[in-house]
Amino acid sequence: LKFVCNSNDGNDEHMVWLIGLKNIFARQLPNMPKEYIVRLVMDRNHKSVMVIRRNKVVGGITYRPYASQKFGEIAFCAITADEQVKGYGTRLMNHLKQHARDVDGLTHFLTYADNNAVGYFIKQGFTKEIYLDKDRWQGYIKDYDGGILMECKIDPKLPYTD
Ligand code: ACO
Repeated sequence: LKFVCNSNDGNDEHMVWLIGLKNIFARQLPNMPKEYIVRLVMDRNHKSVMVIRRNKVVGGITYRPYASQKFGEIAFCAITADEQVKGYGTRLMNHLKQHARDVDGLTHFLTYADNNAVGYFIKQGFTKEIYLDKDRWQGYIKDYDGGILMECKIDPKLPYTD
């Protein structure tokens, strides 16, 4: 089992994983238009942290780091159906936080969480209160009806992964 963070960088193996992840998102997030999922997963401004087992994608999180604003927006997050509730979602989020802090230099995440995923995000340290200054994120993230805006502060020192 491994965790990787890739973007659409022309590498064949990364491309195969990103397509696998796109298919998981399309199935697990049925309210999202498929074209929109493909566009963001393949967009070079977005990155995806993925769980890989036996060279196959089990799930992942696609996000856009806004380096100048020091926050990231999580666009999609899902684990494939038969692997949910086994702890992968938690480990994935921890790898995302570690990477975002140590590689991207981010301090916060924002996401529009689906109603049924709010419980998962709360367990990952997200709140419905937005403490981040509005001028740091307003105009950067797109408004989206079908969800609740949630925030997570990344601890500056905590080791999130072993
Ligand atoms: N509601 C409430 N609690 C949840 C949910 C949920 N939907 N899913 C998991 N949890 C809880 C688990 O019970 C567990 O709690 P515990 O630590 O007390 O045992 C904890 O959250 C972590 O569980 P994991 O096993 O690590 O989570 P999992 O691997 O199942 O991944 C995920 C969670 C990503 C939400 C997965 O269930 C999934 O893909 N769901 C369908 C797609 C989805 O809803 N994605 C999020 C949409 S919002 C967005 O993408 C921005």
